[in-house]
Amino acid sequence: MENNILKDKLKNFALNLLEKKSADEVIETAKKSELKKTLSAFDLIILGIGAVVGTGIFTIIGSAIVGGPEGAGAGPAIILSMILAAIASIFSALCYSEIAAMIPIAGSAYTYTYVTMGEFMAWVVGWILMLEYAIGNITIASAWSGYFAQFLKGFRHILPDFVVNFPIWLRNDYRSISIMCDKCGFDIHDKIPFLFDKIPFAINLPAIFIVLLLTLILIKGVKESTRFAGVMVAINLFIISTFIFVGAHYVQPENWTPFMPNGFSGVFMGAFLIFFAYIGFDAISTTAEETKNPQKDIPIGILGTLAICTALYIGVALVLTGMVPYKLIDIQAPIAHAMHYAGKDWFAGFISSGALAGLTSVLLVYQLGTVRILYAMSRDKFLPRSLRIVNRKTRIPNLLTWICGLVVIIGSFFMDLNISAELCNFGTFTSFIVICIIVLILRKTEPNRKRPFKVPFVPLFPILGIVFCAGLIIYSLKTLKTSSMLFPIWIIIGIIIYFLYGYPAHRDKNRKK
Ligand code: ALA
Repeated sequence: MENNILKDKLKNFALNLLEKKSADEVIETAKKSELKKTLSAFDLIILGIGAVVGTGIFTIIGSAIVGGPEGAGAGPAIILSMILAAIASIFSALCYSEIAAMIPIAGSAYTYTYVTMGEFMAWVVGWILMLEYAIGNITIASAWSGYFAQFLKGFRHILPDFVVNFPIWLRNDYRSISIMCDKCGFDIHDKIPFLFDKIPFAINLPAIFIVLLLTLILIKGVKESTRFAGVMVAINLFIISTFIFVGAHYVQPENWTPFMPNGFSGVFMGAFLIFFAYIGFDAISTTAEETKNPQKDIPIGILGTLAICTALYIGVALVLTGMVPYKLIDIQAPIAHAMHYAGKDWFAGFISSGALAGLTSVLLVYQLGTVRILYAMSRDKFLPRSLRIVNRKTRIPNLLTWICGLVVIIGSFFMDLNISAELCNFGTFTSFIVICIIVLILRKTEPNRKRPFKVPFVPLFPILGIVFCAGLIIYSLKTLKTSSMLFPIWIIIGIIIYFLYGYPAHRDKNRKK
């Protein structure tokens, strides 16, 4: 008897974990959405480029070429790494386009997983997306801070020295400073203050400043945020194109040999790192509920963004590796440094301002994405109700927007740029794999649903997407020690929170309904 009760309970529990939302229900929710429908295909491409062109091409490209303490870089073969990363992205981009056009709702991969694999997997995917968005934002805020310091240096003749060279413990996290001290042989006690002689103190003030500023902009409304991103994207594109054009005159083809100094292992490591430069197009799908004509505009937005960015990146990589011998490429501000190397100091300052614009727009779109995903999770009653309350006038979930800003600020105290970028990549690769799987599932379970956009060559293309992303994850898990340990820890913490809060809260609220 008791055995049967236990069996029933276990069966119920398993059924709850697999409980799905129907696609119709999701589409109905989207129709009743309280979010404003204001975005066009053009707005989406602006948002897309705004989300994609940033830290990856302005900062991480340096480590992907030169390498770091945990892996050798690609050298001039960064072009091959970029092509690999673009291929891994394109299959997932096609899959995102098919699903987002079919089920246009905020929440991105989280919601699609809910429809196809049930609530437990949906929670896990939502939690993993936080690695991409919230942790990714920590990377971008740190890179912003680095370029801000470079930017100030351009004003060294006008500004007082204490502003231009403000202390490193006011513009870095502790880990970055200690790595730098180890590398340069400095005593860390000379570089940062210690509270009570024991606790090291470092705070990234520029990162905090930009996150607060963007949170204030986001609170104003999504259309206003897109307009702001538009200005940043225009500056950014202008400066990158000028770099390619001007830099091409300083290319010395002998810098392209040896082409693959670290063989294929360098190319794969480079592909894993530079993948960061491609992610962001998926953020477009998080604004599906705010798009006027999502069926048509979302595929145009996603694929258009990826095509424009890939062309720009190949241009930047060719020029950068042609201008500077690969070993001498700077890993903090490689593009600005390339111009210093060519003796064009004024142009380096110009590049820094473009980088700041690019990083600002990425931060903005990522904050927007974080809020939209958590909003969708709260609407499904996995997170507290207060998080989904929107302001009547702007239709923005204010409290949630502030919390997301604070999380990035707190994270910037503890995480450095490389670790947060690697974690972000692990999260994004995983969500891309999930998206490819979802396309395969939906083709079987919902064969007749209207698909305004279809991935060609199914199942081949989604399978190739899975193989490329999984291959790069497996390769990097073996090489990158710190982040490959933190990635599973992150997932375990998410599962614990689900069982302690999400699972009971979802059932409680549904019962009360
Ligand atoms: N692709 C975005 C960047 O490079 C995340 O900053």
